[in-house]
Amino acid sequence: MPIPSEYFDRVSVIIITGGSSGIGSALIKAITNVKEAVAVCNLSRSKPDFFTEPNLHHFPVDLRDSAELAEAADGLQQFLSEAPAGKLVLINNSGFGDYGPIDTLDAGKQMGMLDLNMRALVDLTLRLLPQLKERGGAVVNIASTAAFQPTPGMSTYGATKAFVLHWSLALSEDLQGTGVQALAVCPGPTRSNFFRAAGFDRPPLEGGLNRWLDMRAEAVAEQTLEALAKGRRLVVTGWKNRLIAAFSSFFPKVVVTRVAGAALARLRLEQYRK
Ligand SMILES: NC(=O)c1ccc[n+]([C@@H]2O[C@H](COP(=O)([O-])OP(=O)(O)OC[C@H]3O[C@@H](n4cnc5c(N)ncnc54)[C@H](OP(=O)(O)O)[C@@H]3O)[C@@H](O)[C@H]2O)c1
Repeated sequence: MPIPSEYFDRVSVIIITGGSSGIGSALIKAITNVKEAVAVCNLSRSKPDFFTEPNLHHFPVDLRDSAELAEAADGLQQFLSEAPAGKLVLINNSGFGDYGPIDTLDAGKQMGMLDLNMRALVDLTLRLLPQLKERGGAVVNIASTAAFQPTPGMSTYGATKAFVLHWSLALSEDLQGTGVQALAVCPGPTRSNFFRAAGFDRPPLEGGLNRWLDMRAEAVAEQTLEALAKGRRLVVTGWKNRLIAAFSSFFPKVVVTRVAGAALARLRLEQYRK
């Protein structure tokens, strides 16, 4: 499926978090492939290694820190005041998980996860909402299929993604008639640095988990941009993930929690079996 280039003819600025790796990098590459001249502002701690062109701007920031986020947002507002007219697309993508029995996980890392996956996403969106309304455009929030059921073994992560999904869907309703679209994206397991960062120190596949379920970051990016161009509010990437999300939405929460817990515990056994 080709990336819908007509949509990006009307976009002049993309602001994305977490473009230095995985899904974020794939999104930037897919967009700049169809519209080379679009201005991209990336917010992450490290600079994307492919940021060599003058239209690709890196704002170094640890988004868990609200003071750093506020400073970066000021820089973005200054940038937008001088940017050419055209739509603005904000992609809230930065995020991480943490895997293991809850009492073995680092509490500080869990709090940082709440700050990055939820607080930073809301904070950045609200700070940029005036410019989004003025220019028109979209807010794209990267949630996860972990949002559809509790995830024992990744309890905090799954709950942050449930927040992102619900917040994003409600936002899309709140923004009706403003010219700003909100899209929640729910990828399933995707090959990236995610699993290593979450503490799966021996993933069976390099950068991924499961040959049957894993998707490539490029495919997730493609389906995200297609959904954006179609004006959708929610996309679950890949038919296998759509099946799992439908299962999780249909059965009682207690039942799907046990099923998810059993699936994640199997991974845990594999992780600890050295
Ligand atoms: N991979 C999957 O299976 C999967 C499935 C569903 C949803 N997701 C979601 O997709 C999004 C992207 O993940 P990914 O798979 O592409 O993982 P990834 O390769 O680990 O990328 C994570 C990105 O988040 C950025 N980030 C991490 N901590 C940050 C911080 N404190 N401040 C600013 N940026 C930070 C990283 O940049 P720096 O390290 O340079 O700061 C990196 O660019 C996440 O929200 C994740 O939850 C992933």
